Amino acid sequence: MSIKDFISRNPWSGWLLFLATVAVVFLLGILASSIVERRSEARYAYRPPTDLKPFETDNSVWGKFYPREYQSWLSTADTSFRSKHAGNKSLDILATDPELVILWAGYSFSKDYSQARGHYWAVEDNRNTLRTGAPMTPEAGPQPATCWACKSPDVPRMIDNMGAESFYKASWASMGPEITNTIGCADCHNPENMTLTITRPALREAFERQGKDISKAGHQEMRSLVCAQCHVEYYFKGEGKYLTFPWDKGMTADDIESYYDSYSFSDWTHSVSRTPMLKAQHPDYELFQAGIHGQRGVACADCHMPYIAEGGVKYTSHHVQSPLNMISSTCAVCHRQSEEELRNNVYERQDKIAALRNYLEEVLVSAHYEAKAAWDAGTDEASMKPSLDLIRQAQWRWDFCAASHGGSFHAPLEVASILSNGIIKALEARIELASILTGKGIDKVMMPDLSSKASAQKSIGLDMETLIREKEEFKKQILPSWDKAVI
Ligand code: HEC
Ligand code: HEC
Ligand code: HEC
Ligand code: HEC
Repeated sequence: MSIKDFISRNPWSGWLLFLATVAVVFLLGILASSIVERRSEARYAYRPPTDLKPFETDNSVWGKFYPREYQSWLSTADTSFRSKHAGNKSLDILATDPELVILWAGYSFSKDYSQARGHYWAVEDNRNTLRTGAPMTPEAGPQPATCWACKSPDVPRMIDNMGAESFYKASWASMGPEITNTIGCADCHNPENMTLTITRPALREAFERQGKDISKAGHQEMRSLVCAQCHVEYYFKGEGKYLTFPWDKGMTADDIESYYDSYSFSDWTHSVSRTPMLKAQHPDYELFQAGIHGQRGVACADCHMPYIAEGGVKYTSHHVQSPLNMISSTCAVCHRQSEEELRNNVYERQDKIAALRNYLEEVLVSAHYEAKAAWDAGTDEASMKPSLDLIRQAQWRWDFCAASHGGSFHAPLEVASILSNGIIKALEARIELASILTGKGIDKVMMPDLSSKASAQKSIGLDMETLIREKEEFKKQILPSWDKAVI
């Protein structure tokens, strides 16, 4: 029986259908208005009126206006997650990989180096690492204030106060009492209107030198550029230790190397092989550009700061962390595969890169000690130069990849290619050195004891007991006078 027949046999049913339609339309109306209301509620949650003062560095003050963002930001204190190669648990990398002590011999990284953890810890970790030493007076070294540059919203405040040049030139310890709030709201947001903003002069200046005006960057670009203020390769230029991003010739490992070579720049001289070395920092932004996600316009925040829906409100998670601890709100927004498959995609790339990286570490350790043996046998500087150049180039390539903590997933092909070139150069260095050593009648070279971090540190002559004792003294005597409130 058709609907038409049914209605003609039951005259009341027309009315029934009419009323049912009215009811459905009414309910749809309520639903629509509730969605609109929620949307505006969500929008309200984004930008309520605030009375934040310029350079407000206290994150908890911002938290009063933006409780969801603040609460999720606080979660960066969490140190319970470990993925196969990363995560937010602090890990003593020199202990798991004593080769690195040798690669950094003569440089502060050989004393202490741990895996990065959440933003909440930035100030505390910088205070406590042996790399910043134990300055008992504000003027004492060993580091410049530039070392604070990527740790705190107090940095833009102080730069506004005293000018970038004077800030960078000051000593690390003299700025210690000023830098008390860890990476937070004022590092990425303009307190007037909550838009994303660039607070670090070095990023602005690097773009300016390339003729680009960063203030014209689009919204999606800004969702990466805020990270590029810190997660990049940098160096301290000249006597004034002026924080500079070395991008004038481009952002690849080769481009940046030729920039440094053009200045004959070196970060330090290797204490075993006497090579003038480069230390890569964390070129995550640079390497990310070379990967498929960067090339397709995906932003750092898409994977590290996903949107979260809570009640009717959508907000950005400020728990910046490994996306593998939140696959369903990151990768799965764009990919349909299972969580397990996506995780394995990451691990597969990281495992293969790690194998190349570990091999290059071993070759480099041998090269440094063979160079030492060649020096010890009285080889002159000119004969050493070709091998030392190759060691510098090989280790730059290793460090560029190792220091970019996310590079093996962000840009696996680029990283594999850089590491392969590094391996070739390190092996070439060893071939050069082998011919020098053969000429000197040396067929056996002493290698360091790599059975533990302690034995590796001893091999390069580090007196760890004294360093640790001095640091403890500093923590007891000086640190309490710096502001206690780390949040
Ligand atoms: C490392 C950079 C960074 C830091 C630090 C940071 N934010 Fe954000 N914030 C972002 C990004 C990226 C977005 C997403 C912006 C967009 O896509 O429009 C965002 C968005 C927001 C929004 C807009 C609403 C939303 O949730 O999307 C608010 C409000 C906000 N943040 C508050 C805060 C507060 C409060 C703090 C400090 C506790 C803070 N932010 C720290 C980068 C940061
Ligand atoms: C003001 C400088 C600064 C900014 C801006 C910044 N970071 Fe960081 N980030 C750091 C420092 C410093 C650490 C290491 C902290 C530690 O280990 O004490 C870190 C650590 C991390 C970690 C490791 C944390 C973990 O739990 O595994 C990730 C991931 C990360 N940042 C991603 C980002 C992303 C994505 C952005 C942009 C949305 C960003 N960061 C913006 C300085 C910064
Ligand atoms: C397509 C997703 C994606 C994008 C986009 C992305 N990352 Fe990552 N990132 C990852 C994954 C996956 C890892 C590996 C995490 C792990 O091994 O636990 C990672 C790791 C990292 C790490 C190391 C974390 C640690 O615990 O050591 C940092 C730092 C980082 N990314 C920063 C960035 C920055 C800065 C950008 C933008 C320039 C960015 N990421 C863009 C997916 C992404
Ligand atoms: C905002 C969207 C977006 C997010 C989030 C995202 N991806 Fe992708 N992903 C893409 C795009 C776009 C491509 C390029 C595919 C293309 O153009 O055909 C891609 C490519 C890939 C590829 C193939 C690349 C290669 O090396 O061959 C893998 C694997 C992948 N994504 C894994 C992940 C994982 C794991 C995560 C989470 C950590 C993630 N993606 C997060 C958009 C995204």
